[in-house]
Amino acid sequence: MTTLPSAWRYPRVLAHRGGGVLAPENTLAGLKEGLRRGYRAIEYDIMLARDGVPVVMHDPYLGRTVAGSGNVYDYDAAELALLDAGGWFARAYEGEPVPLFVEFAGFCKAHAVWMNMEIKPAPEYDIETGGTVARIAAALFADEIAAGDMAAVPLLSSFSMLALESAREVAPQVPRACLMSELPPDWERRAQSVEAVAIHTNHKHLTPALAQEVRAAGYGLFCYTVNDPARARELLSWGVEAFCTDRIDLIGPDFIGR
Ligand code: G3P
Ligand code: MG
Repeated sequence: MTTLPSAWRYPRVLAHRGGGVLAPENTLAGLKEGLRRGYRAIEYDIMLARDGVPVVMHDPYLGRTVAGSGNVYDYDAAELALLDAGGWFARAYEGEPVPLFVEFAGFCKAHAVWMNMEIKPAPEYDIETGGTVARIAAALFADEIAAGDMAAVPLLSSFSMLALESAREVAPQVPRACLMSELPPDWERRAQSVEAVAIHTNHKHLTPALAQEVRAAGYGLFCYTVNDPARARELLSWGVEAFCTDRIDLIGPDFIGR
């Protein structure tokens, strides 16, 4: 286990896409499933609808998790909110709506659920999406930011450097993390360019040496999406500080300890 100082000030086990795979992803029902199991920290995805209103959504198109066809940006948020985001998962969830980001984030805050907000821009909407999510997050957590209670403030992450740059311009006070499936040789330059505090990476491509490199450079190190407890323990032994999981039934919120 690494003895480097930790740059990660947040919960260490997060439910992926709101509530893992026990309920439909990126829905309030999923979030509530996690709450029932003691989860108070989540990762979820945010995208803009046609009218620029952000919704909680992973895919840029309908059809997999939301009944319908076409792209997310073909619909206004109010229209998306009327579509079924739960029936694909099980009949019991039929009619579960596509959450509006503002309402979803407000619910999380009210229930003390810490948020890793993944900015998931639809193609060519990077700048608008990054800026919108950052502006809303900053407004929602204005009091915590003013009080210096940064552990409560969400962490914005994205695969899109443009989105992260936009988020930094709009609300530099909301921390950012670079999402990179596989760390490129210039990972640190990229992180510096958006003043990121953490690196979020696919555990499948991580090595002990890379984990050490990230930690030694002073960044938080988070992995997605870790569903096997033995693998989680291995990653922790490499110095990984936090991760998200789909299997909130196999890996509890206290898996690492607080
Ligand atoms: O934020 C980590 C992870 O969610 C990134 O991949 O496709 O599940 O959003 P994806
Ligand atoms: Mg995600």
